[in-house]
Amino acid sequence: KKILFVASECAPFIKTGGLADVVGSLPKCFDKKEYDVRVIIPKYMCMNQKWKDKMTYLNHFYMDLCWRRQYVGIMEMEYEGVKYYFIDNEYYFAGDKPYSDVRYDLEKFAFFSRAVLSALPVIDFRPDVIHCHDWQTGLIPVYLHDSFAYGDFYRGIKSIMTIHNLKFQGVWDIDTIKDIAGLSDYYFTSDKLKDYDNGNYLKGGIVYADMVTTVSDTYAQEIKTPFYGEGLDGLMRARSNCLRGIVNGIDYKEYDPATDNLIAKNFSVENFRKEKVKNKTALQKELGLEVNPKKMMIGLVSRLTDQKGLDLIACVMDELCQDAVQFVILGTGEERYENMFRHFDWKYGKDVSANIFYSEELSHKIYAACDAFLMPSLFEPCGLSQLMSLRYGTLPIVRETGGLKDTVQPYNEYENTGTGFSFSNYNAHEMMGTVRYAEHVFYDKKRDWNKMVERAMKADFSWKASAEKYQQLYNDLLG
Ligand code: ADP
Ligand code: GLC
Repeated sequence: KKILFVASECAPFIKTGGLADVVGSLPKCFDKKEYDVRVIIPKYMCMNQKWKDKMTYLNHFYMDLCWRRQYVGIMEMEYEGVKYYFIDNEYYFAGDKPYSDVRYDLEKFAFFSRAVLSALPVIDFRPDVIHCHDWQTGLIPVYLHDSFAYGDFYRGIKSIMTIHNLKFQGVWDIDTIKDIAGLSDYYFTSDKLKDYDNGNYLKGGIVYADMVTTVSDTYAQEIKTPFYGEGLDGLMRARSNCLRGIVNGIDYKEYDPATDNLIAKNFSVENFRKEKVKNKTALQKELGLEVNPKKMMIGLVSRLTDQKGLDLIACVMDELCQDAVQFVILGTGEERYENMFRHFDWKYGKDVSANIFYSEELSHKIYAACDAFLMPSLFEPCGLSQLMSLRYGTLPIVRETGGLKDTVQPYNEYENTGTGFSFSNYNAHEMMGTVRYAEHVFYDKKRDWNKMVERAMKADFSWKASAEKYQQLYNDLLG
């Protein structure tokens, strides 16, 4: 069976968030004898030169889309057993980031979606299933429906739309969307791409895909409600027969505390009681914090946006900083959150370290060094950071939403079960109470804490189980 993943980002080539981790790790995990899974993404100018040097030129053509005629270059690369294609166009994929303003991105990804479909005969790969990820690829199922325009090659190709984040839909006024996507009036009724007075790419993808998935069971339920549905809850309910939640995994080879060469001291479930703490003292030194192996360290690695529950933190951070804890933050995003963390770094310098930049290396060091990891998201389709934390024996403190609810089992002191701490309401004091409960367990019930670390490290969030679910989904679709 031939499967093509289409996405706007893919680790290690280009990454802004968890989407890249998923697209970069899941395709490696399919049964190679049965599934030929390939990946296609844009070739951004801002990709590291090291990757560009590894790509080889395959072919090129010119493509007409509405009023424009554009170059479509196809580059390819085989990497860790997976075949990758890159769509090259220096007009659309220039710039120092993969995304820019919405209007421009809409035009860029209309081009990309169309170019992907047009490239298939050129690279001589006819997928049985095109697996689309997020709004940037939402037009692909729509174009496939429109495939009479393309001829026999495309007939019968199935599509899957995977929603990694329903908040981002790709929305603009209908006239502009018609103009840049090259779709007729037929598509702009409210049962198709029309969304109030706008055109909506993701809605198109959800309406026209043969199957819709999202990245956890709980999120699949949540998005059928108005609070999480981002205006599409009605559509999600209407399509609920075709909607599945399949929880993400992480690459257990890349995120392995026993072999990770980005961290100060390797450790495993056998020796973490002695070895893990060496990562903490190393990080304390590196970041200029008070060096104290006994002090509880709480980490936060995140895009700094509303989604991540940062206003709860803003509300009680001053109080929490007066507890016997250290905070290590790594993230970029909205200026008000960046400045909030810089402020607490300035105010509580020996206990708070705000690192407002992007660094793969520091992220690994934080996952390895901390005792707990704070992730109080307002909503969280899946979340990967808490899975990375679990793997490194760093206990997550999360709000019970989406994938956080599905992957972190709250501590139960009577039964001695659980892999972390959680709270249910989006309320700053409820979060603070949970953090303080974690502090209490850390300082006063060390045996329980360590048992929990052991369970966390033993929990299995590798891709194995979920890759099998995707395989099952492909089988169901292909009959
Ligand atoms: P989302 O996709 O919503 O951002 P996830 O938890 O699914 O959230 O994935 C976030 C990914 O991005 C994780 O791999 C995390 O380690 C990484 N990440 C986020 N911010 C940074 C940063 N500033 N530096 C390095 N890695 C980061
Ligand atoms: C999105 C979500 C995140 C999820 C990731 C990968 O960025 O915000 O929760 O883990 O996609 O699916």
